[in-house]
Amino acid sequence: MKKNILVIYYTQSGQLEDIVRNIAHPFEEKSEEYNVTYYNIRLKKDFPFPWSGDIFFNTFPESYLQIPSEILPPPEEVVNKKFDLVIFGYQVWYLTPSIPIISFLKSGFAENILKDTPVVTVSGTRNMWMFSQEKLKVYLKQMQAKLVGNIALVDRHDNYTSVLTILRWMTTGKKEKSGMLPAAGVSDEEINGAGKYGRIIEKHFSGNTLETLQPDLVKNGAVEIRAFLVRVEKVGNKIFKVWSNLIIKKKEKRPLLIKFFKIYLMAAIWVVSPIVLVLHLLTTPIFWFKRKKQREYLQGINIK
Ligand SMILES: Cc1cc2nc3c(=O)[nH]c(=O)nc-3n(C[C@H](O)[C@H](O)[C@H](O)COP(=O)(O)O)c2cc1C
Repeated sequence: MKKNILVIYYTQSGQLEDIVRNIAHPFEEKSEEYNVTYYNIRLKKDFPFPWSGDIFFNTFPESYLQIPSEILPPPEEVVNKKFDLVIFGYQVWYLTPSIPIISFLKSGFAENILKDTPVVTVSGTRNMWMFSQEKLKVYLKQMQAKLVGNIALVDRHDNYTSVLTILRWMTTGKKEKSGMLPAAGVSDEEINGAGKYGRIIEKHFSGNTLETLQPDLVKNGAVEIRAFLVRVEKVGNKIFKVWSNLIIKKKEKRPLLIKFFKIYLMAAIWVVSPIVLVLHLLTTPIFWFKRKKQREYLQGINIK
């Protein structure tokens, strides 16, 4: 009997859709063995793309605090079928799985679809996805889904270049290279080459060896951990917690606080994070083993 593969995703620019479709391609090629179903999560009221600067920053508190919006119900063919494998595509908004993804996870449909099902998570982000993946692991565990693999595709440019290009991309829709700046987001080469991960997943799925899928994915470049970004993300999460709670509590001061948050964020990226980088480099010999252990954990699929 044919196996049922479900590909779940949300995307604004189409980047994540391209990635998950390329990953699912090896399953589609074997149409005598697999039925592949795509489920594009849709919100009742979607976010704009390109973003206006105001809405982009105004989305921060709800994103960070994982406050859901209402989604349109998934199609019947998704709700009424039992799937043998789920490829779960997501993007990160403010160090957290995006609002559409959180909205699906909290919708009640998710548990039905994901319970007792092997799941491979796939993210397409700027470069700070590590602790979002930890947040996602908690949801999957609560729903008794079986996380068997993770692929994290990122912008490989340095952290500062990718901040500039992502802001250009998100606010104008322009992903391609312009002036001095390179193209934003995950490179075309990696998007087009993502089928290699699909072949690895298919091999382990058909051979019943999903328990060794993740090391194989990692060996093939599916998850790169940059220790410096782990540090920045840790600090960022602490600070975002304070800001998001403050903005949500002080409703009447929200527009002003969002403006301060925006200034703060830019200062943190351009002033604080270079300091963190220098401190990080200076302490490399002291924390070598700790960071190695942390990298191995973040490349894996276990939950602490
Ligand atoms: C509001 C917002 C916040 C974002 N925050 C992050 C972030 O914290 N870390 C990160 O690596 N990427 C971040 N991104 C980039 C997204 O993860 C993603 O790569 C980009 O939006 C393209 O996704 P798409 O497939 O929906 O077009 C953010 C994007 C948006 C729109």
